[in-house]
Amino acid sequence: MAVEATNAENSPRSLGVGVVGLGWMGRLHASSYRNLAARYPELGLAPRLVCAADPLPENQRAARAQFGFERAVDDVEEMLADPEVDVVSIATPNFLHRDVALPAARAGKPFWIEKPMGVDAAQSREIHEAARAAGVATAVGFNYRHAPAVEHLRALVAAGRLGRITNVRCWLYADYASSPDGPLTWRYDRSRAGAGVIGDLLSHGTDLVQYVTGQGISEVSAATDVFLRERPIPTSAGVGHGAVEVGTERGEVGNEDWVAALANLADGTRATLESSRVARGHRSDYALEVYGTEGSARWSFTRMNEFEVMIGDGGLEHGYTTVLAGAGHGDYGRFQPGPGIPMSFDDLKAIECAEFLTDVAGEGGGAGGAARPASGSGAAPNTADGLSAAEVTEAIARSAASRSWVEVPQVEGTTWGA
Ligand SMILES: NC(=O)c1ccc[n+]([C@@H]2O[C@H](COP(=O)([O-])OP(=O)(O)OC[C@H]3O[C@@H](n4cnc5c(N)ncnc54)[C@H](O)[C@@H]3O)[C@@H](O)[C@H]2O)c1
Repeated sequence: MAVEATNAENSPRSLGVGVVGLGWMGRLHASSYRNLAARYPELGLAPRLVCAADPLPENQRAARAQFGFERAVDDVEEMLADPEVDVVSIATPNFLHRDVALPAARAGKPFWIEKPMGVDAAQSREIHEAARAAGVATAVGFNYRHAPAVEHLRALVAAGRLGRITNVRCWLYADYASSPDGPLTWRYDRSRAGAGVIGDLLSHGTDLVQYVTGQGISEVSAATDVFLRERPIPTSAGVGHGAVEVGTERGEVGNEDWVAALANLADGTRATLESSRVARGHRSDYALEVYGTEGSARWSFTRMNEFEVMIGDGGLEHGYTTVLAGAGHGDYGRFQPGPGIPMSFDDLKAIECAEFLTDVAGEGGGAGGAARPASGSGAAPNTADGLSAAEVTEAIARSAASRSWVEVPQVEGTTWGA
């Protein structure tokens, strides 16, 4: 018997996509749009890769040859003026985010922007307010919250299964910057990156803590340091952390290698957050632990597809149970037919893309009012979430400088509180 396709599958709505910055993240955004219909057919959307904007000719060539963009340009304004571009991905170095996000919002184009949203809280606020004023849907690249195991931790907390949450521990340790001969790229320059590891990695931790507990970080006491103070100055442009040439001249690192913060959440829950980009041996060791009066649960990105949980009193078998992700945990069922089959980092971006486009299709969502996708997972992290993380970053930097507790301004419209 022939099976009829649904209306959404038969006549998906075409959606023109523009991607700014065709490095690591821009390419991942592009492939997420390309693969959307295979994972989320009921959205009835057919993203069309209309235009890529990147100054590097090799990235423009890759955009067309590897990803199938119809056009590739070096001028962002030309891309934004293209009426065929309905939504925009912003995946440039941090200092260019605002200069793309503001005109995109003014042109009424929803945008998916990488984290950290701006180089500081002031820029992030401008971006959030522009999106809110324009009423456009937005998404921010806090991809780790989409891991099915993380979604389940949030569900455990929301259902009260762990009892009253007492404290949370989160760390993000990596060694991408641990070589003193790694190039002094934009990431180490305060004017182009903003904060160092606080914005680059710890902002993911801020989002994880707030998303899983549903509570905002309200005050922080922090210390920061720069362990590798000089790096060789690049002599060529390139993509990613290290793919550039360097000369013999060295320059000063302008932002943090390491941060440790004590934090209080709005309901009194305690939190500790720590992050390093120079922790030799830790490749991408990102972890979250949630403790409550009835139990605790923990997740690590190094074993992304599982979590450990302990609830109640296990008698002589008291201890953690390891649970492999399966259908019923976040969007796992979209990607694998049976339990325990690993998903990938790229899949987290595919989920983010679907959440973003769900908000775009809902047309009432966006900054501060995102519609819940039918998939059962959370709404896309939006610019309110991006601003909230930026406020925490800034409070941490101020606390470290003043050696005192600093209050964090709260932001309305975040998705983690919903
Ligand atoms: N969500 C995550 O887990 C995650 C991971 C890595 C990076 N990021 C964020 O993504 C953003 C990009 O990082 P990346 O690792 O992809 O960097 P990258 O260096 O790989 O890519 C940046 C790209 O931007 C392009 N670019 C530079 N100037 C431009 C301009 N004026 N117009 C258009 N394009 C321009 C560069 O040519 C390059 O291709 C950063 O904000 C970073 O913090 C997020």
